[in-house]
Parts: sequence; structure tokens; C-alpha cells
Amino acid sequence: MKDSRPLFYIETYGCQMNEHDSETIAGMLSEMGYEETLAIEKADIIIINTCCVREKAESKVFGRLGNLKALKEKKPDLIISVCGCMVQQQQIADKIKKNMPHVNLVFGTLNLHRLPELIKEVRETELLPLVELWDNPGKIVEGLPVKREGKIRAYVNITFGCDNYCAYCIVPYVRGKERSRKLQEVIREVREIDAEAIKEIVFLGQNVNAYGRDLNSKVNFSDLLIKTNNITENVQRIRFTTSHPKDFNEEMVDVTANLDKVCEHYHLPVQAGSNRILKLMNRGYSREQYLGLANLIREKIPGASITTDIIVGFPGENEKDFEETLDLVKQVQFDAAYTFIFSPRPGTKAAEMPDTVPIKEKKKWFQCLVKTQNEISLKRNQELCGKTLEVLVEGRSKTNPDKLAGRTRTSKIVIFEGDPDWKGKIIPVTIEKAQTFNLIGSREEN
Ligand code: SAH
Ligand code: SF4
Ligand code: F3S
Repeated sequence: MKDSRPLFYIETYGCQMNEHDSETIAGMLSEMGYEETLAIEKADIIIINTCCVREKAESKVFGRLGNLKALKEKKPDLIISVCGCMVQQQQIADKIKKNMPHVNLVFGTLNLHRLPELIKEVRETELLPLVELWDNPGKIVEGLPVKREGKIRAYVNITFGCDNYCAYCIVPYVRGKERSRKLQEVIREVREIDAEAIKEIVFLGQNVNAYGRDLNSKVNFSDLLIKTNNITENVQRIRFTTSHPKDFNEEMVDVTANLDKVCEHYHLPVQAGSNRILKLMNRGYSREQYLGLANLIREKIPGASITTDIIVGFPGENEKDFEETLDLVKQVQFDAAYTFIFSPRPGTKAAEMPDTVPIKEKKKWFQCLVKTQNEISLKRNQELCGKTLEVLVEGRSKTNPDKLAGRTRTSKIVIFEGDPDWKGKIIPVTIEKAQTFNLIGSREEN
């Protein structure tokens, strides 16, 4: 028996859902008596929380797991565990089991709550590989401990899973069907966060606008935002992701415009600007509807930022379709866009569609889109020069550790000089210089 506490190390890939799942895993391990380490070689248990939304995310994990073999040979008692979306695919779980005997535990996105028992089982079975995937896909387990990363921002799940089945997307297959947490459970967590004096809440769901649809009560996402805005004292900022353009509507624009804590930032993934491609993608809205929503935001909430996700090279996409995406990007003037080249995901509809576009062509379109968007992002940022904006300080800047970094309400990163003790405070900062991906500012002297 060691006299110090055993150590855990978590590595997280993918989206905020996964980041938040890792916070829950950290919470459970802390309750079991483990302590977190940032040095992987010191860990007694390593957890790799994976993503499979694109092929690249998966190959990275396989590379990483391969590297861990040597560490396991040096430390036979080490537990290596892989969880998250990627292992939720049976063929991947099988591949790990067959080819990677140094991995002791594989568990799925719906089995998070079982981690303490699973670790015990692994120990008792002398570290034999254990795989546990689907449990009860309809179930939501409440009350799991969460070890939040920092005290500035708190993620709160409001829906799990997804029922939208966009043709390219694997998420519904690995995260289960869409289910909402009960309003009283979400509000209980909101109150806890408020009591911890955390300044920002981020509500998470694959389509937050669908919140409540599957519940018997008549609550919807607007009710949740209004309630959170009204009952919190310390929380100053409320954010949410992701809004789905098919369910995001004028009511949402009006409700969010009138709530002082809800930030003026809308992440509205458009995916494509051509109606033909949007239809093939099964997105459920048209180019015109999307442009209408973007205009509504611009009219009703001046200064709001709009960001998006775009896929280039969907099967069957042609030059004209791509031009329509480019045109939409120019019309909307997004503050930022996350752009991806289509990646076929096994089991999805799009993976079966004939894909005739050569990769060279896709890359050309991709680069053209990125260039156009970067120019727009820079222009949008330049419009903020000279303005004084409220910045929630997150800590030292990663790229420039002598300075601080924080975010505006519109979710833009601002880098400026200041006291590291300001971490967690909201500070007025005057914008002096605009860059494509961030702003440089200086602290207002009183
Ligand atoms: N629920 C969110 C998106 C979750 S996935 C929504 O509906 O918008 C995050 C982003 O990854 C997507 O918006 C999409 O742009 C991208 N993506 C998903 N599957 C992809 C694939 N097979 N190939 C390339 N990009 C993909
Ligand atoms: Fe995937 Fe579409 Fe669901 Fe988003 S809404 S997670 S893109 S299936
Ligand atoms: Fe998120 Fe990746 Fe899973 S984007 S939901 S971690 S597949």
C-alpha cells in the first residue's frame, strides 16, 4: 500500500460534451480516493475519452493507445481505460480488445456512472480487459459528482443524445436517442453552480432548442433560460450550444434578447449553403430559412456574434453547390466558422452515398472557404477596435503567458496585460488591435 493517494490522468478528445463527461469521470475518481495528475507517466489509472465525429479524431487515439503500451510494460499495475464516443462503435471496441491487450477497460458513453464498479471489477479480475457498452439508452443518471475544470465556467447538460440523423453524422449512433433532463434537476445544478460563485454557465445539448420535447411537462428551452436568468445571483453569463437552425426561431431571438445574462453569441451550424446539399444532409431547413434567422439576429441584437460549422465535399457536392456555400458565408458575415472536409463515418447514410468529388477538389474548396472566412473574421474583429468590452478573465494567455486571456460576451478571445489575480473577474478592456482569431486590448485605467 502506498502512503500517498493513487493518481489519475484523463485525456479528452472531441466536443464540450466529452469535456464535461471527463469532469464527471474526474469527480467519480476523486470520490474513490484518486487524485488528478497532469503527468501521464505518474498515473495509476489513465482514461482516454474519445471522439469519432471524423476519422482523424479516431486515428489520433489509436496512435496514442499504441504509445501507451510501453508505459504499461513498465508499470503492470497501471489501468488503461478507453471511453467515449469512439468505443461505442462495436467494431472499434472489438479492434481494441483484439489488438490492444494492454487496454484494461473499455466503457461507453451511457455507462459513465458505472465507472467505480468497473474499476473494482478490473482490479478483481486481475486487470483482464473488460468491455461494457450500451446500458439502458433511455436512462439518465442524476447526482454524479463533477470535478469542474477551473471555477470560471460550468457546463450543464440539458439534453443527451440526438434524434436528428443528419446524413453525415455518427453522434446519434454513439450517444443514443435524444433525452432531456428534468427541469428541476437542471435547476438544482444551476443553483449549486451559483452557490459556488461561478460566473458562467454553458448549457449543453446536440440541439438545445429541442429541450423538453420528450418530457411530459410543458417546459421548453426558453423557460429554462428565463428561470436560470432570474434565480442566479453570482452567475453573470449564460451560454448554450448547439442551436439547430431547424428549431431555432424568432421566439428564441426575442427571449435571448431580453435576458440580461444570456450572451449575444449564437453558434448556428449551417453545414452547407446549397438547398440540394442541405436536403441530402437531412438538415431540415433551407438556405433561405437560415439567412432569415441570421438577419433576425442582426436586426434584433446589434453587436451579436454568429458562428457556424461547415462541411466541404459532401458526397455529390459540385462547384455550384460550393459557390452557394461561399455566397452564404459572405452574406451572413460570420464571426468565425469551424470548417471540415467531409469524412465518411461507418454506419451513416452519407457513407453509402456515391462520393465522386476528387479529394484535390475538396481541398481546393476548403482552402478557398477558409481564406474567405478568415478575411471576414478579421474584418468583424476590426469593427471592435476602440470599443470597451466586458471580458471574463480565464487566466494567463496560452500563446502569450505574460498576458491574460479572457472572453467577451460575444465569445471573442481578448489578450491583455493585467494581474493574474483577476482570473474569474469581469473586467472592462479597450480593444486596440484586431487579429483573425483574437483581439488585443488594454485595461481601462480608472
Ligand atoms: N449537434 C451539432 C454538431 C455536432 S458535431 C449540430 O447539429 O450542429 C460538430 C460538427 O462536426 C458538425 O457541426 C459538423 O460540421 C462536423 N461533422 C460532423 N460529422 C462530420 C463528418 N462526417 N465529416 C465532417 N464533418 C463532420
Ligand atoms: Fe449530428 Fe445532426 Fe445530431 Fe448535430 S443534429 S449531432 S449534426 S445528427
Ligand atoms: Fe462530441 Fe465527438 Fe462524441 S464531437 S458527441 S465527442 S463523436
